[in-house]
Amino acid sequence: MVPLEQKFPLDSRLPVIWQAEPLTMEWCVTCHRHPEKFIRPREYVFNMQWQPPGDQETLGRRLMKQYQIRDVRSLTTCSMCHF
Ligand code: HEC
Ligand code: HEC
Repeated sequence: MVPLEQKFPLDSRLPVIWQAEPLTMEWCVTCHRHPEKFIRPREYVFNMQWQPPGDQETLGRRLMKQYQIRDVRSLTTCSMCHF
């Protein structure tokens, strides 16, 4: 048997987790201001291959109604994220 370390030298292993987006307030608020530009159907939230359709905003507005996403005013209220 080949020892595990030889098959997978430590420095060639892929990282198990990584940060896809910076957790800055700007990133959060960019979406909270215009969720219709970003939201996708629920069944695709874990699908990394999902691509937004050409008419993302039409889809987004429909999904916002369907999922009863609250209004942008409350999504951008400071107290929603800061206590
Ligand atoms: C890609 C879009 C997107 C990004 C990025 C995003 N959010 Fe949101 N977030 C939403 C939407 C849409 C809702 C509203 C869901 C609803 O009303 O049902 C929400 C809701 C919330 C809520 C309320 C949850 C609740 O149950 O009351 C908090 C708090 C929140 N977001 C914090 C954050 C923070 C902090 C970040 C950044 C680290 C962030 N969000 C990034 C889309 C996003
Ligand atoms: C959608 C969530 C969300 C909303 C709404 C939000 N913030 Fe933030 N805010 C964050 C996050 C997340 C951080 C942490 C950023 C970091 O660590 O880099 C942050 C950080 C900050 C900071 C620290 C300095 C900085 O820029 O990192 C200040 C000040 C701040 N927010 C003020 C506000 C005020 C004022 C409002 C209302 C106008 C607001 N925030 C609304 C998520 C939010």
